[in-house]
Amino acid sequence: MDEDSFKRRLLIVSNRLPITVGKPKKGEGLKFHTSVGGLSTGISSFYKSYNAAWIGWPGITLEKINNKEQKEISEHLAKDSCYPVFLNQHDIENYYNGFCNKTLWPLFHYFTTYTVNKETLWNAYYRVNRKFCESIVKVANSNDIIWIHDYHLMLLPSMLRKELPNASIGFFLHIPFPSYEVLSMLPWRREILNGLIGADLIGFHTYDYVRYFIESVRRILGFEDNLGKINTYDHIIKADIFPMGIDFERFSTLTPDVEQEIKNIYKQNADKKIILSVDRLDYTKGILQKLEAFDEFLDKNPKYIEKVVLIAVVVPSRTNIEHYKTLKKQIDELIGKINGKRSTLNWMPISYLYRSLPFKRLSALYNVADIALVTPLRDGMNLVAKEFVATKRDEKGVLILSEMAGASKEMGEAIIINPNNKQEIVKAIRRAIDMPEHEQIKRNSIMRKRLKRYNIIKWAEDFMDELLQIKKIQQQFLMKKITPEIENKIIEEYDKSNKRILLLDYDGTLVNFSDKPKDTKPDEELYAILGALCEDDRNSIVIISGRDKTTLDRWFGQMNMGLVAEHGVWIKTKGEDWQMIAPLTNHWKSSIKPILELYVDRTPESFIEEKEFSLVWHYRKSDSKLAKVRARELKNSLLDLTGNLNLEIMSGNKVIEIKDASIGKDRATLKWISSENWSFILSIGDDVTDENIFNVLPKNAYSIKVGSGSSRANYNIASPFYVREFLKKLSKERR
Ligand code: UDP
Ligand code: G6P
Repeated sequence: MDEDSFKRRLLIVSNRLPITVGKPKKGEGLKFHTSVGGLSTGISSFYKSYNAAWIGWPGITLEKINNKEQKEISEHLAKDSCYPVFLNQHDIENYYNGFCNKTLWPLFHYFTTYTVNKETLWNAYYRVNRKFCESIVKVANSNDIIWIHDYHLMLLPSMLRKELPNASIGFFLHIPFPSYEVLSMLPWRREILNGLIGADLIGFHTYDYVRYFIESVRRILGFEDNLGKINTYDHIIKADIFPMGIDFERFSTLTPDVEQEIKNIYKQNADKKIILSVDRLDYTKGILQKLEAFDEFLDKNPKYIEKVVLIAVVVPSRTNIEHYKTLKKQIDELIGKINGKRSTLNWMPISYLYRSLPFKRLSALYNVADIALVTPLRDGMNLVAKEFVATKRDEKGVLILSEMAGASKEMGEAIIINPNNKQEIVKAIRRAIDMPEHEQIKRNSIMRKRLKRYNIIKWAEDFMDELLQIKKIQQQFLMKKITPEIENKIIEEYDKSNKRILLLDYDGTLVNFSDKPKDTKPDEELYAILGALCEDDRNSIVIISGRDKTTLDRWFGQMNMGLVAEHGVWIKTKGEDWQMIAPLTNHWKSSIKPILELYVDRTPESFIEEKEFSLVWHYRKSDSKLAKVRARELKNSLLDLTGNLNLEIMSGNKVIEIKDASIGKDRATLKWISSENWSFILSIGDDVTDENIFNVLPKNAYSIKVGSGSSRANYNIASPFYVREFLKKLSKERR
């Protein structure tokens, strides 16, 4: 690839290119044909209108071609701005037929018993994702937009992020994202999620898939979201819904060659109601279920014998995988059986086409069909349903659609069925045949308007716009992100000063935030860092924490530093005893504690921490969804009850803390700051309670927020790991 020609391009990356190369028999030449599947047909219809290139596998293994043919393939594909990533037989066996289609595909479609979990397959998946990464890095510019598609390449976003830190990386999943429970069955769920969050924007077809993804990220990786924005290790990313559309114009336009095809089909099916079914041969599509339902429909409605025909287009797919081979046999047998027992001299109920059809044939079938029968057991979107409705210029025709297809969320005017409920499908067929034309028109006109408005172009534009939006938000954060230059500037100031104060929060700042607070006691490295800072007598080190004073004493009592406990209730200066910041009462605790106890009973694994002058309800170990609801309820009831008690109800990181409203980290900070004439002030914290510190610092102070959320602090730093690295630099001997 010519590197210059790629500048500012949109790079589409998917496992399958829109053109598949075949070599039907040994010794024969190469054959190039259009790929099938929603991803390929969808993106093909818009990518040429962009300054785009498409990178992917051309569908043939390296072993089947020689060097000359490899070159021929590259040249042929380049004409369509497609660039091949060549894979060998071993890759295809273990990555494509393996981890992609024996592990991820069945699991993400809830076929858990079909799911194979094998280390060798996972290794191949990792290796091929790397291969894609290397191919892209060779041609991409750091400011290119890279849009990765589908489950084959879920590790790629993070791999690319490492190589091209500033690139705009989008990811779209074309299949369902499973619920947390199902994803948890996958041994490599962490790796998969960590791979995905390298993208700036992650798109899904439906709201449920977004919800499941966000929940999995929260429960497996521990990152919280705010309206789809997720704060990851060091940047903000977004997960959102983009229901994929179709090329409405293409399907709704009648061309002369399609017209000719229509005539041919009518000739063969004169006077019959035509039911159409179009699927890749896949166990997720519910093909057997619809055939059985059709058979039963004929049983129950004999008056339609010889008056209705089911045209079943089944497109060969993943033919080397056992479950697909078995299904092919079952479909052949079932169709044979139904046709065998029901055919008459003039009629065969099922017209079975096991092949991929060219556009004009498919479009003609959509045109002539009275009913489309779309019955997947699970489907990310299902574009066939949309294409059928778009084709109906006269708005006549009935769509029967499975509620398990993503498309059902936008096509509520179809007859919606549960694909596992045979009787429901039977009734739906009957209802569709009998549906008055005015009702068909009413239903289709609404759906067609929607399909026309949110077509494939709009879908792509929407995704790209949002990708740019999230990049802007990241920029705002990046402007505040601490850089080596800023670190050096702070170090310079530090070196120059003789009277320095460092105000450091503990949890989430010096140690990682954890589900188990007991595990976050200081480790050797932290003692060494703090010890080195305390040793310098120009330094005053103060830990300002929400922890109780006994804990802080146990951990840091022996060190030459100041301590603030219970968010500012207690203060301990070097070598002195604990002092209360102001006279406080705690008799309110007896009326508030029973309320918290009620919430402990109602929220498994939550617990109460009692400090001298505050009460804390912790819910970090509880089911996060339930806990969020309970936290909101608790806060509301406490607000009602504490109106006249001068108490503050604070929501922290998975805690609700109730304390005297006049006390806060701000007051403790002011007390400390005003005690001396400091020439260097630095404060580092991660939580909402630390914002109270940042708020009251003098202008010349340095404040640093840990994590990527918004803050009053001057700078953001990624994590406690980087805080420690920075503190190490501060205490290092410099001449
Ligand atoms: N398709 C095709 N030729 C065929 C049958 C289907 O090109 O013979 C296309 C069809 O137009 C649709 C896609 O394949 O765009 C199937 O997408 P869908 O989302 O329905 O299912 P998928 O195969 O992606 O699971
Ligand atoms: C689905 C997947 C696509 C895939 C297509 C065809 O639509 O989401 O990523 O390309 O099926 O499957 P295949 O295995 O032939 O690429």
